[in-house]
Amino acid sequence: MHIKNNIFFILLIAFAACQNNSTMNNTSNTDSTKNDADTTTQLIPSAKDFQSTIDEKQTDLYVLKNGNMQVAITNYGARIVSIIVPDKNGNPTDVSVGYDAVKPYSEGGDTYFGAIVGRYGNRIAKGKFKLDEKEYTLATNNAPNHLHGGNKGFSRVVWDAQPQNDSTLILTYLSKDGEEGYPGNLTSKVIYTVLSNNKLKIDYEATTDKNTVLNLTNHTYFNLNGQGSETILNHAVMINADRYTPVDSTLIPTGKFEAVKGTPLDFRTPTAIGIRVNDTSNQQVKFGHGYDHNFVLNTKGNLNEKAAEVISDQSGIVMDVYTKEPGLQFYVGNFMNGSHTIKGGKKDDYRTAFCMETQHYPDSPNQPNFPTTELKPGQQYQTTTIYAFTVNR
Ligand code: BGC
Repeated sequence: MHIKNNIFFILLIAFAACQNNSTMNNTSNTDSTKNDADTTTQLIPSAKDFQSTIDEKQTDLYVLKNGNMQVAITNYGARIVSIIVPDKNGNPTDVSVGYDAVKPYSEGGDTYFGAIVGRYGNRIAKGKFKLDEKEYTLATNNAPNHLHGGNKGFSRVVWDAQPQNDSTLILTYLSKDGEEGYPGNLTSKVIYTVLSNNKLKIDYEATTDKNTVLNLTNHTYFNLNGQGSETILNHAVMINADRYTPVDSTLIPTGKFEAVKGTPLDFRTPTAIGIRVNDTSNQQVKFGHGYDHNFVLNTKGNLNEKAAEVISDQSGIVMDVYTKEPGLQFYVGNFMNGSHTIKGGKKDDYRTAFCMETQHYPDSPNQPNFPTTELKPGQQYQTTTIYAFTVNR
């Protein structure tokens, strides 16, 4: 049965590749990594719906491929639009929530679907921090706090895209001194690579010309049964963390580290999300309206050690997370409410996706006990996260 489906999948890819080539031959577009008008599979949106001019820059859709995996990325917000991997029967499955055109990303209410968030992913208390004795004021776009870099941040700007080959795309963005209230001209580079064996690697790099703070992450919403499927409450999750950073009612860390043991945040062994997500007898679950917490990873920046694992209940797809970052924000779509139409005419219903945002801890610029997020001139910011997909048969 799966052999048959695998063959079908291979044929589908081969067919898609031919379609791609024939379209390319008929146009002046010689860029082999671009998704042409014909969709490579039914699942990948059409590139033409991403071709627009925003802030005087061209937006587009780029499709990376390696073996059985395809990842579609737009340079609008350096966003992942689709992640296609085979399920247990070999059927291509899109596990990442997104829109099928650039317009809803640029004009819709911001959900950060698939986006690179920065300069500071996650919250900064009251939109204020001090650096070198100077106080900086940022947008309080998630009142009373600053969230994910502000009103536009890095998720609503157009990045420069440089396709490298079939499986690698480099995106760069210069954030000018003072943009969104942050100091320093900051050049950020995000490199998306689809590795063999269905792995997506994201490398982040940055340099600055003034002391600044920085916390880049990717905000993909995953549903391993396929985006637009029912809730993720039956996905089983393992997070390799003995501790987490508890928050106040506005989701700002108290500055303490607490043990997950004996709490609904104990994911040290795989546990279905839904079992304890509504346990509001726990104050942290109440504050987060479910899970919306930063876990202190035991991996301590070791990219070879597994930080997290998620096992789907229907598709057989399993996702492992590896990262150099010290923390992971586990968010389960508590604020999703079905108000957005996502790919395939589906709705972003309540808790139909989860995020695993690898990162430094929230509000680090105001938290002396947390690892620093400062970046100075002459220093090179570099971090890497890998999302690896396999199947449980
Ligand atoms: C935050 C959530 C927030 C969501 C916005 C997550 O990173 O932790 O609180 O609602 O992003 O999309």
